[in-house]
Amino acid sequence: MITWGISSESHNAALSVFINDNLIFASESERFSGIKNDPQLNDGIINYALKFGQPELVCWYENPYKKTLRQLLAGQGWIQNVKKYVDVPIKYYDHHYTHACAGYFTSKFDECCVVVIDAIGEFQTLTIWEAKGNKLKLKFQRKYPHSVGLWYSAMTQRCGLKPNEEEYILMGMSAYGDKRVCEDAIYDDFIGGKPATFKKNFHRGCSDWRPDIKNNFDIAAATQSIYETMFRDIIQRASTIVKSKNLVLMGGCALNCVANPIAYYYFDNVWIMPAPGDNGSAIGAVLAHKKKHIDWHGPYLGYYIRPVVSNEEIVNHLMDHGLCGVARGRAEFGPRALGNRSLLADPRDPQIKSMVNDIKQRQQFRPFAPVIMEEYAEQYFRMPMKSSPYMQCAVRCKQSKKFPAIVHIDKTSRVQTVNSQQNAELYDLLKLWNEKTGCPMLLNTSLNIKGKPMVNDEKDCKEWEKTYGVKVFS
Ligand SMILES: [Fe+2]
Repeated sequence: MITWGISSESHNAALSVFINDNLIFASESERFSGIKNDPQLNDGIINYALKFGQPELVCWYENPYKKTLRQLLAGQGWIQNVKKYVDVPIKYYDHHYTHACAGYFTSKFDECCVVVIDAIGEFQTLTIWEAKGNKLKLKFQRKYPHSVGLWYSAMTQRCGLKPNEEEYILMGMSAYGDKRVCEDAIYDDFIGGKPATFKKNFHRGCSDWRPDIKNNFDIAAATQSIYETMFRDIIQRASTIVKSKNLVLMGGCALNCVANPIAYYYFDNVWIMPAPGDNGSAIGAVLAHKKKHIDWHGPYLGYYIRPVVSNEEIVNHLMDHGLCGVARGRAEFGPRALGNRSLLADPRDPQIKSMVNDIKQRQQFRPFAPVIMEEYAEQYFRMPMKSSPYMQCAVRCKQSKKFPAIVHIDKTSRVQTVNSQQNAELYDLLKLWNEKTGCPMLLNTSLNIKGKPMVNDEKDCKEWEKTYGVKVFS
């Protein structure tokens, strides 16, 4: 039986395909339309999904009856948009529940605590669940208008950035600011009691807040610092509510890689699914329906490009030119390029960071991440965990001077570790690079341009190469 999971009509639409209990495809809609965070499905992703066969059931990532009764009554919105593609029964599951199911049922845990922190679904904005066997029990919830995610997005907008998209830029800016300038002001004006209550509804943002504070880097520093305190309170609370060594962390806030290492102070094992935001709920909706664990083989679930170039050629090019694009195999599901749609570069070269920022048209302060063979990670980084395959935690680099291209100003790096099971081709590429250079890591950033989604298919790769003059091996 073929089941589709859909998360759409809000932001960053996504679709997953299951054949029986096997997850065989998942992708964001944006990869097929070329529109960053595209909220709608499109013919491209639907036709690609239909190659696996006609679905018999669609599972929807939230409960529209709770969310948009008005839209239903007006005959607008999601139902019509889905029915125009496939006219099959649709089952609906609550927004935070699908987040929680996406995390728990892709994890290896048979019991754990699940924490979901996001902007808003129907009404819930923060939930804590006890997961055991095939059941998830809600233990704590915070509801709209109190919302950590809405507040962080509002502060993103206050810093002159795009809310619901550029929160990660605020996170990067935070290391350059002085939090003392406005931390008290944010607490006084916005922050309520623990955990995660607020004095204001941030649905309409706070872009006119304290115009006398001019330096956005200081606002970013204070925002990130307060978020980390809030996150610590939430995780600490969760650890007292659900007695487990295992934590699953989900929701858009689980992308805050600077804060995420805090979770390891309270739990021994932490699983963050590589698409913890609403896109991942395309998988979570089906898992909410099936109520069982699946074999998680990794995030390489999207469009397939047949590899035709050897690692030898790629490494030789990297040694001669310092950087190149690599697009092969199945595209990553989630926001990070993890080797299959990546721009790779020599992390030792002091010029590389500004070169790559120029190519990608990004602000010069923005850091890049490394990908490293798993067995070398401990030697170069202070790892609170053995492996970090999805770039979910910023950790301190032990040799920051040697690798200027992948270390942020606070000496941290958002590390991706890789072993041969996770991505054999990428691992072999690093192995060869290490044999030739003595360096077991590469800079790894997504093969895209600011404001655009990652390249998806062969045509995108050719266009990217032609436009930016950087070789793409695909
Ligand atoms: Fe969400």
